[in-house]
This record gives sequence, structure tokens and C-alpha cells, in this order.
Amino acid sequence: MGFNNKTINQFVFDLLRLGIILMIPLACKAPKVKNQPVVYNHSIHINDVGLECVECHVGVENRARATLPTVEICETCHTEMNGDTEAELFVVNAVENNEEIVWERIYELPDHVYFSHRRHIVLGKIGCSQCHGDIQDFETPPLIPLIALTMEFCMDCHEERKVNNDCLACHR
Ligand code: HEC
Ligand code: HEC
Ligand code: HEC
Ligand code: HEC
Ligand code: HEC
Repeated sequence: MGFNNKTINQFVFDLLRLGIILMIPLACKAPKVKNQPVVYNHSIHINDVGLECVECHVGVENRARATLPTVEICETCHTEMNGDTEAELFVVNAVENNEEIVWERIYELPDHVYFSHRRHIVLGKIGCSQCHGDIQDFETPPLIPLIALTMEFCMDCHEERKVNNDCLACHR
């Protein structure tokens, strides 16, 4: 028994289809690379200037959303240059013109998942780095999440800490 053109065509078609099916989850799961409007440096502000996370992410202790900083927060220190970098010049100009710096969000859950920072930080006493890695030591903005916040990641810790793992605890 030999292969005729029809079975070979079918075989090639099946291979292609399998390839496409295998690629769909890959394409959906690969995080999108996000570039920020300016090269923000966490390390300088935390390790050298000595700021606390909550001074810029003002919602983190009392709201669901941590929030990204408005230009008014930068204004406290950047009405004039402290150093001589182009990045800082961009910020000083934004402050002077009262223009918002539009940060790209790296971490964002789908709408069907509920997450509260207050609950985890204040009640759960969980450190930022457990979910966000060592961002305090970064001199440039991360392009993708340092830790992938998947359902498994959430549920593993809930299991360990004996927290509610019902579907409807997170999906509301
Ligand atoms: C002086 C202000 C400032 C301080 C202090 C600060 N951040 Fe940020 N943070 C930013 C800015 C600006 C961005 C957006 C640019 C970037 O991603 O680097 C950001 C982004 C982030 C992000 C990514 C959020 C997202 O989804 O895009 C995380 C996580 C984060 N910061 C955690 C922290 C932690 C943890 C601390 C304390 C150790 C901290 N930050 C302190 C200004 C600050
Ligand atoms: C238990 C995990 C966890 C911990 C701990 C945690 N985060 Fe987050 N963070 C998340 C998740 C999940 C998101 C995405 C939330 C969403 O899309 O609703 C997020 C998003 C953010 C963002 C993006 C902007 C926003 O408003 O959502 C910032 C900034 C941030 N976190 C900062 C912090 C800081 C600062 C700390 C520590 C004080 C911290 N996070 C601790 C899980 C965590
Ligand atoms: C409490 C004061 C303070 C606040 C608030 C603050 N900064 Fe800074 N920032 C500094 C100091 C001090 C430097 C150090 C300058 C140096 O050493 O070159 C700096 C440096 C910088 C630089 C240059 C970093 C580099 O790598 O060269 C940028 C960009 C910057 N800040 C952005 C911001 C943005 C954006 C905000 C608001 C989200 C902000 N800063 C809020 C004090 C502050
Ligand atoms: C490192 C551990 C840890 C991780 C990771 C974590 N959680 Fe939690 N979570 C907790 C703890 C601890 C509590 C209970 C806090 C309290 O109220 O004392 C909690 C509580 C909750 C609650 C309230 C549950 C209820 O009904 O009582 C929700 C919703 C929730 N987490 C969602 C999430 C989501 C979504 C993620 C992933 C993005 C996540 N959590 C990741 C530790 C974690
Ligand atoms: C502790 C929080 C938590 C619990 C409990 C939880 N989920 Fe999720 N779920 C998530 C998060 C976070 C995502 C988004 C993951 C992502 O975007 O990678 C998600 C995504 C999903 C999705 C979308 C498919 C996907 O992979 O993105 C489905 C469907 C889902 N969950 C079903 C369930 C069911 C059914 C249960 C109960 C058996 C459940 N979840 C319990 C946090 C949770």
C-alpha cells in the first residue's frame, strides 16, 4: 500500500492545523512588551532617596488598586534638576507644563478576577516582592511582569495560607 496525494495532503493539513492549535495558547499567554514614556528608576528613589512604595502607589494600603503616580507626586522633587540626565529633564518639563506622564500598566488581571491590594498588604501582611519580584532594585522599568500572576500562582498561596479558594472568591 502506497501513499497517494490525497493522504499526503491530508497529513500536511493535519500538521498545519495542529501547529496552529498549539500556537494559539502561546500567542495568548506571551506577555506583551510595554515601553514606558520615560526610563523611570525604582532603585534611585528607593535605595538612594529612601522613598516608600506607598508614597507613589498611594492606593496600595487602603484600596484595591495600588495606582500609578500622577505628575503632582513627582513635582515635590522635580521642579528643578537634581542630576543631569535626559530622563529627569523629561520629568522636569512635564512638571513645568503640568502634563500627565502616561504610564503603561504591566500587571493587569482580566475583568472577571477581583484582587485587592489592601486585603493582601494590610490584612495578609504580604510583601510586594512576593508578587512583583525585586522591582525596588530595578534601574529601568520592567518590560513584562517579573512574576506571572496566573490563577495557579494565586491558588497555590491561598492553599498554603488556608485562604478561601472558591471560584467565586476571585471571580465576581
Ligand atoms: C517615586 C515614585 C515611586 C516609588 C517610591 C515606587 N514606585 Fe513603583 N512605579 C513608579 C512608576 C513611575 C512606575 C511606572 C514605570 C515603571 O514601571 O518603572 C512604577 C511601576 C511599578 C510597578 C509596575 C506596575 C504596573 O503594572 O505597571 C510595580 C509592581 C511597582 N512600581 C512596585 C513598586 C514597589 C514595590 C515600590 C516600593 C519598593 C515602588 N514601586 C516604589 C513610581 C514609584
Ligand atoms: C498577592 C500579590 C500582590 C502583592 C503582595 C502586591 N501586588 Fe501589586 N498587583 C498585584 C496584582 C494581581 C495586580 C494587578 C491588579 C489588577 O489588575 O486588578 C497588581 C498591580 C499593581 C500595580 C499596577 C497599578 C494598579 O493600580 O494596579 C502596582 C503599581 C502595584 N501592584 C504595586 C504594588 C506594591 C507597591 C505592593 C506592595 C506594597 C504590591 N503591589 C503588592 C498583586 C500583588
Ligand atoms: C522625594 C523626592 C523625589 C520624588 C517624589 C521623585 N523623585 Fe525622581 N529623583 C529624586 C532624586 C533626589 C533624584 C536623583 C538625581 C541624581 O542622583 O541624579 C531623582 C532622579 C530621577 C530621575 C533620573 C534618574 C536617572 O536614572 O538618571 C528620573 C527620571 C526621576 N527621578 C523621575 C521621577 C518621577 C517620574 C517621579 C514621580 C513619579 C519622581 N521622580 C519622584 C527625587 C525624587
Ligand atoms: C503570597 C500569598 C498570596 C497570593 C500570591 C495571593 N493571595 Fe489572595 N490572599 C492571601 C491571604 C493571606 C488572604 C487573606 C487576607 C486576610 O483577609 O486576612 C487573601 C485573600 C484574598 C481574597 C479574599 C478571599 C475571601 O473571600 O476571603 C481574594 C479575592 C484574593 N485573595 C484574591 C487573590 C488573587 C486574585 C490572587 C492572584 C492574582 C491572589 N489572591 C494571590 C494570600 C495570597
Ligand atoms: C485565588 C484566586 C482564584 C481562584 C480561587 C480561582 N481563580 Fe480562576 N483565575 C484567577 C486568575 C488570577 C485568572 C487570570 C489568569 C491569567 O490572566 O493568567 C483566572 C482565570 C480563570 C479563567 C479564564 C481562563 C484563563 O486561563 O485565563 C477561568 C475559566 C477560571 N479562572 C475559572 C476558575 C474556576 C472554575 C475556579 C474554581 C475552581 C477558579 N477559577 C478559581 C484566579 C482565581
